[in-house]
Amino acid sequence: MPYAKIEIAPSILAANFAKLGEEVRIVEEAGADIIHVDIMDGHFVPNLSLGIPVVASLRKATRLPLDVHLMIQQPEEYIEDFIRAGASRVLVHQEATAHLDRALAMIRELGAEAGAVINPATPVAMLSEVLDKVDTVLVMTVNPGFGGQKFIPNSYEKIRQLYQLRARYNASFRIEVDGGVDPGNTAELAQAGANTFVAGTSIFHTADPAAATRQLKKLATQALSQRA
Ligand code: DX5
Ligand code: ZN
Repeated sequence: MPYAKIEIAPSILAANFAKLGEEVRIVEEAGADIIHVDIMDGHFVPNLSLGIPVVASLRKATRLPLDVHLMIQQPEEYIEDFIRAGASRVLVHQEATAHLDRALAMIRELGAEAGAVINPATPVAMLSEVLDKVDTVLVMTVNPGFGGQKFIPNSYEKIRQLYQLRARYNASFRIEVDGGVDPGNTAELAQAGANTFVAGTSIFHTADPAAATRQLKKLATQALSQRA
């Protein structure tokens, strides 16, 4: 099962931007699998974060894949720019475009991996027609826009549904979770079927981000092995 792999994805939104390269190096050495980069436009979500030049700089600072989460309206307009800047994976929200199928196809045509994202209020069924066209489904476990929010528990059921759909259709997308992920819910998320764990606060707002990265990976990996 290619999708049985666990990935830890530190979210740089919670890092110290004045020493971003160093923060990324620390989690990379600790075994982080990808780096999660949150792009916000002040419209789709009520916040602004960072943009294309930061992705380009990160591309030079790490060998890890860059997981670029677009929280922007009409993401189609910027997909090419982010891929040219170095995005390995581009994740677009179902709620942010009338043309999700087109946006996902664009991402793959431009040579990156395509991800579809659903907000906490969006049912899994909204992705039923694109599940064979994605490399990742990202279940938002908070309402997007800010780090440090509380995990929303309805996410577990959505992850279980995706896990079953993936098996039923013999699909191979990863199931990613983002928001409020911490050592208290990681094992249960892995048991529900999550593969890729985005974590900002619970990694970078600790005294030891390397230890926090290793701990999340251990918890998720152990939970997955108990499931099998
Ligand atoms: C929220 C972002 C998340 C955020 C997660 O809109 O998509 O990636 O950085 O932060 P924590 O892990 O602090 O909830
Ligand atoms: Zn994110």
